[in-house]
Amino acid sequence: MSTSTVGISALGVHFPSAALPLAELGALRGVDPNKYLSGLGCHEMALCPAGTDVVTLAVEAARRALASWSGSMGDIGLIVVGTETAKDMSRPLSAWVAEELGLSGAVRSYEVKHACYGGTLALRQAVEWQLSGAARGKSALVIAADVALYAPEDSGEPTQGAGAVAMIVGTPDVAAVDVASFPFSQPAFDFWRPVGQAFPSVEGQLSLDCYKLAAASCFADYVAYEQAESTAKQTPSPAEVLNELERVCFHVPFPKMVKKAVAEVGERLGLDEATTAGFYESKVVPTMRINQRVGNCYTASLWISVASALAGMKPGTRVGAFSYGSGFGGELLTLSAGPKAAEGAWMTAAERDLNEREMLDAAAYAALRAAHLKG
Ligand code: CAA
Repeated sequence: MSTSTVGISALGVHFPSAALPLAELGALRGVDPNKYLSGLGCHEMALCPAGTDVVTLAVEAARRALASWSGSMGDIGLIVVGTETAKDMSRPLSAWVAEELGLSGAVRSYEVKHACYGGTLALRQAVEWQLSGAARGKSALVIAADVALYAPEDSGEPTQGAGAVAMIVGTPDVAAVDVASFPFSQPAFDFWRPVGQAFPSVEGQLSLDCYKLAAASCFADYVAYEQAESTAKQTPSPAEVLNELERVCFHVPFPKMVKKAVAEVGERLGLDEATTAGFYESKVVPTMRINQRVGNCYTASLWISVASALAGMKPGTRVGAFSYGSGFGGELLTLSAGPKAAEGAWMTAAERDLNEREMLDAAAYAALRAAHLKG
């Protein structure tokens, strides 16, 4: 059970107003749609129509979190945006967002970049800022927002997506974030985007291997920690430790990646195949329902999964959250649902976004990409 007094006070989740069914992309690229649907596990990708970008996504998510929070703008002492969709090499994305929100004054404002891990780092920094006492009674506005696009016909194209999650970090009304967390990093070029390059470069197989290594290392560290902390007469087995988590959320570049990572975690922990499969089906699959409909939202991807998992949970229910960012770094966090999780109020607007989207066909998608490439 979490003893943390700090966590997420309010949540806001936002998706853009267009989407492409993956079967349409298959038709456009001459690829069997089953490769995307069952081979990768992706069903639809969220796309930004003209006039929507990473800033509009981040601002709307922030507005939703602020509207459902009992505090006011004057209670925010830190705004931080985790993103890999930088607008500028110098000016932080948080400045664009703060400008739109009318947030200025005694507020620390900055951007965090570490590929898809940046939003989690931003959240950890906000939690640690609170725990250190430096917050002096203020709350933090943390936003994870990205627009993920690959070059047309790139192998990553079916995994594209866009979305934003905003979290107010202060009292743990929605979820407490445990103080202990379990990081792992190792320098690699698995996925990167050089300065001036519009789309990322990817070493596909290497990126899968890096993700799996990070996941297995973080979970092994977590299990060892819980075993050492246990006061039970008999040290809990790895399966028993994992079983304490009701849901386990992952960064979702595409759902098959998560399945492969869970298999690696199971192998590292010495679980038999049936136990690993049961863990994946019961605790992980339900958390990816929305990710399958929006694609890879980079920094927002894990937090979309966490926001969806927390909605409807009883207070005290435990959640695991594994973050991965290429380059590469990963971190496993654990959270406990707070009193406001049961309402899951943040999901109403998010579900509305999803249900009201314009579904593009192959020709409309091709036109959107052509317009985007023209700039
Ligand atoms: N029906 C059903 N399944 C099919 C199929 C068909 N007709 N054709 C192929 N498949 C299956 C394949 O067997 C394969 O499944 P398994 O892995 O279980 O064997 C799956 O579909 C994918 O096929 P390929 O491996 O051939 O796919 P690919 O090479 O074209 O693309 C990828 C895969 C390289 C990962 C690509 O999606 C990519 O470049 N993605 C971007 C990088 C990425 O997301 N990496 C993940 C880790 S890095 C990270 O997490 C950071 C981040 O967010 C980017």
